[in-house]
Amino acid sequence: MDRVTSSDGVNYGAVLALAAISFMLLRKWIAGGVCKSCARLDGKTVVITGANTGIGRETARDMAHRGARVIMACRDLTRAESTAEYIRRSTGNGNVVIRHLNLASLYSVREFAKEFIATEERLDILINNAGVMMCPKWITEDGFETQLAVNHLGHFLLTNLLLGMLKRSSPSRVVNVSSVAHVGGTGVSSYCLHPGVIRTELNRHILLWYPMLKTILSLPSMLLMKTPWQGAQTSIYCAVIEGLERKSGCYFRMAAQLKALFELRPLLYSDCAEKHPAPEGEDDAVARRLWEESAQLVGLNNLH
Ligand SMILES: NC(=O)c1ccc[n+]([C@@H]2O[C@H](COP(=O)([O-])OP(=O)(O)OC[C@H]3O[C@@H](n4cnc5c(N)ncnc54)[C@H](OP(=O)(O)O)[C@@H]3O)[C@@H](O)[C@H]2O)c1
Repeated sequence: MDRVTSSDGVNYGAVLALAAISFMLLRKWIAGGVCKSCARLDGKTVVITGANTGIGRETARDMAHRGARVIMACRDLTRAESTAEYIRRSTGNGNVVIRHLNLASLYSVREFAKEFIATEERLDILINNAGVMMCPKWITEDGFETQLAVNHLGHFLLTNLLLGMLKRSSPSRVVNVSSVAHVGGTGVSSYCLHPGVIRTELNRHILLWYPMLKTILSLPSMLLMKTPWQGAQTSIYCAVIEGLERKSGCYFRMAAQLKALFELRPLLYSDCAEKHPAPEGEDDAVARRLWEESAQLVGLNNLH
């Protein structure tokens, strides 16, 4: 019978160590950029939509950690309250409040904005983070397809309703997580970003239809997807980094210096760096048309 020698043991150990180091390096590479700014936000007010889970929750926690008054704009107040409590406890900042906002309802967006303007003194950073992906073909109470309503129209109306407050608090910022609204030349700067591929609840609707996917994808997602904290870094970067005003209207994704090295990486991962959007995203005529159509759909012109 073969005997296991001490050199076999060393080999196994070496293989295991190599595998562990490779795994750690892979995870570090996947994690991407981290916002290194130590900027404080004392005295500033930040609104984050969809802050009860995923990227929004980590973004809210970071803003609270920097001393901001954080308004978590959420539709599920029970989940929001437990997240708010966790943020208050883990950051020591008690100035974290929740307000009801259902982006699938234009009425709810208007009510949120009305209450916010009546009760808050300022708005320094608006982070349009909430979103749904591939939900069933639901139609909202206003007659819109739900993904369009939540991801675009609700945020479009919200931003416009809060624009006066943002201007009065300037220099202020609007950060759009995967959105296209641009606001410029007003002391209010606006950024759009792709956070990467993150392990959050965004795939909840897909899993409803294909529950087996959860099992099949669990290992690859552990290995290849960012954590919510890592996914929040580009939002945080756009919200706090000093001197970013001159990049207003820009789109942020992956670190440019890595692009040449890893051609696959830009598809999956995003860091705190500027990136060219798809050509349609730089087409002024398309942007104008989108703006006009959106304004008409949400009844913006009738508000002023
Ligand atoms: N995860 C990724 O890989 C990835 C990639 C690219 C872009 N993004 C973008 O990143 C943003 C955050 O997504 P995530 O990955 O953190 O997903 P998530 O874990 O599913 O979080 C989405 C958040 O949006 C909220 N929300 C959904 N519908 C809403 C509505 N009608 N009104 C108000 N809030 C609503 C959710 O609230 P409930 O908990 O109440 O449903 C939740 O707080 C989204 O805009 C998404 O499109 C994510």
